[in-house]
Amino acid sequence: MTVSMTTDNAKTRSLARVLAAVLIAATVVGTATGAVRVWTVISDAQRPGPVLFEHGVSGVDFTHVPAGWTNEWCGECHKRDYAQWKGSRHNLSGSNENFEAQILDPKGGRKQWCMNCHVPINPGATVFSTREPEDLDQNYTEHPEWLMNGIDCLTCHVRDGQVLVTHASEEAATAHPIRIAPELGTAEFCGSCHQFDFHDREHPDQFHGPLQQASLEEFLEFRATGELETRCHDCHMPDGDHEMPGGYSLSLLQETFDLALSANWIDDGDAILIEMDLSIGHVGHRVPGGEHFFRFLSLQTVLEDEQGNAIGTGTSTIRPSDIEATLIDQLPHIKTFGHHPALSEFTGLSEEESGMPSPDTRLSPNDTWTARYVVSPDREQSGSTVRIRTELWYHVLDAWNAIKFKLSPDELRWTVLRREAVLTRPSAVD
Ligand code: HEC
Ligand code: HEC
Ligand code: HEC
Ligand code: HEC
Ligand code: HEC
Repeated sequence: MTVSMTTDNAKTRSLARVLAAVLIAATVVGTATGAVRVWTVISDAQRPGPVLFEHGVSGVDFTHVPAGWTNEWCGECHKRDYAQWKGSRHNLSGSNENFEAQILDPKGGRKQWCMNCHVPINPGATVFSTREPEDLDQNYTEHPEWLMNGIDCLTCHVRDGQVLVTHASEEAATAHPIRIAPELGTAEFCGSCHQFDFHDREHPDQFHGPLQQASLEEFLEFRATGELETRCHDCHMPDGDHEMPGGYSLSLLQETFDLALSANWIDDGDAILIEMDLSIGHVGHRVPGGEHFFRFLSLQTVLEDEQGNAIGTGTSTIRPSDIEATLIDQLPHIKTFGHHPALSEFTGLSEEESGMPSPDTRLSPNDTWTARYVVSPDREQSGSTVRIRTELWYHVLDAWNAIKFKLSPDELRWTVLRREAVLTRPSAVD
């Protein structure tokens, strides 16, 4: 028997009572101790307790986890969820190289609140959130298990010795104590980690300034476009998929984007008109989603000769205004889509000290971005054939910061789509 719960608390409680009665009736024919245990399970199930995360202000108090409740134990029965979680970014959120480099950074990192979101179950969970986590450097040489687990089964599903579920069933309640937690099924649950702004050094529970991640707000905007029933889960957890793919999933990105490229000679073979359409599929927020400071997309366009050698730009008499196109005067040509907020907005420093903000050039769901470029290939470098190649890249971190954090820039960006057009010069055709 499975009972679906709604987010209405009164209804949840009355359904829980019905469920209790059914379970007790079922267990009376079994053993008496069984009945007592089921009753305890159900009455515990009505005790409220926090499930949502507080944007890093505190971690999860883990002193009440029953002995033996490890992720591996959960995985013995929930093999599929365990395998998917093992392949997820949530599993790596405390231990990946990028996070390690940034949490150990004396300038921007070394804060308890980083840990509270990336590894909510940590020994310093009750420490003031702007303090340096205890034994930080030592933990990154010794790699204790809690650090390597990142955001795990216990983080999202276990409170007060109970397993949090959105659907109660007799089998579930028999396997372990359960508590019905409808909030697990809401966007606010994800948003309690996936949306936050700057924390004050002195007043860590105060948030101020623009959001550094705004997934929930952007999602609510998306939902208002007629997607009232859609949740984060529908796209990121189809059929309960615990891998929860995002920008690290090339296949998700390839399903999401489409790129069309066409190119034609103009100006008697002195210049090329390039037309591009980048279309964005069903995404529940601005694109790319997630972190504003570091994530972005780029379209990289190059010209090559038959052997694959890069060709530079030459001169042409064509004026782009004649054909309403943007002139490419430098190759490779790079167009980026992102939202890098001004540091001044977060730190109170002047714009001169912290750099100007760049405009928000992220894309919107179900949108198509189009461009018309005109480029003149260098006559001497190009033979009779010119290949135009455009690639869509996904960037986890820009090269400048990657190098600053001693990370490999190439490992923090990947090609999502590649399109080519090969043109033979009109003069070479005759
Ligand atoms: C001894 C086997 C066993 C272990 C160990 C176990 N579970 Fe379960 N669990 C079950 C069974 C059986 C069900 C009910 C059938 C189902 O939904 O898979 C269930 C149900 C659930 C559900 C609700 C499923 C739904 O349909 O909504 C969640 C969530 C859950 N378990 C999480 C966990 C977590 C987290 C752990 C580790 C702390 C864990 N389980 C450990 C057997 C187990
Ligand atoms: C980032 C938070 C998070 C983590 C980590 C996580 N879960 Fe879940 N889990 C959820 C959410 C959210 C749901 C779905 C709620 C809904 O839509 O009803 C869910 C659903 C489930 C279900 C029921 C649906 C299904 O897929 O069968 C089981 C069982 C489950 N989780 C087990 C686990 C186990 C075992 C682990 C660790 C290997 C784990 N979860 C880790 C958030 C998490
Ligand atoms: C306890 C905090 C927390 C909760 C709760 C949480 N996340 Fe995350 N999530 C993170 C962190 C931290 C990362 C970054 C991991 C890393 O370092 O790459 C992340 C990464 C992701 C990614 C990026 C994966 C990729 O391929 O880049 C997606 C998508 C995601 N989460 C979706 C969800 C969804 C959907 C939910 C709700 C069902 C959820 N998360 C709940 C903290 C959380
Ligand atoms: C309609 C489907 C859809 C919904 C709803 C949705 N997302 Fe996404 N999300 C995507 C797709 C597709 C991508 C990959 C493209 C991109 O990076 O924007 C993505 C990317 C992400 C990323 C990865 C960004 C990165 O840097 O790796 C995160 C984090 C994320 N989503 C979180 C959320 C959260 C949290 C919610 C709910 C508040 C949510 N998403 C709702 C489809 C969706
Ligand atoms: C409120 C929760 C929260 C806090 C606090 C937080 N993060 Fe994150 N962080 C996230 C989420 C969610 C993502 C995933 C965003 C995405 O995929 O675009 C993320 C992504 C990252 C990444 C990218 C990892 C990767 O996938 O390559 C790094 C690095 C990072 N955070 C470092 C930090 C540091 C350092 C701090 C403290 C100064 C911090 N975070 C504080 C939630 C948080």
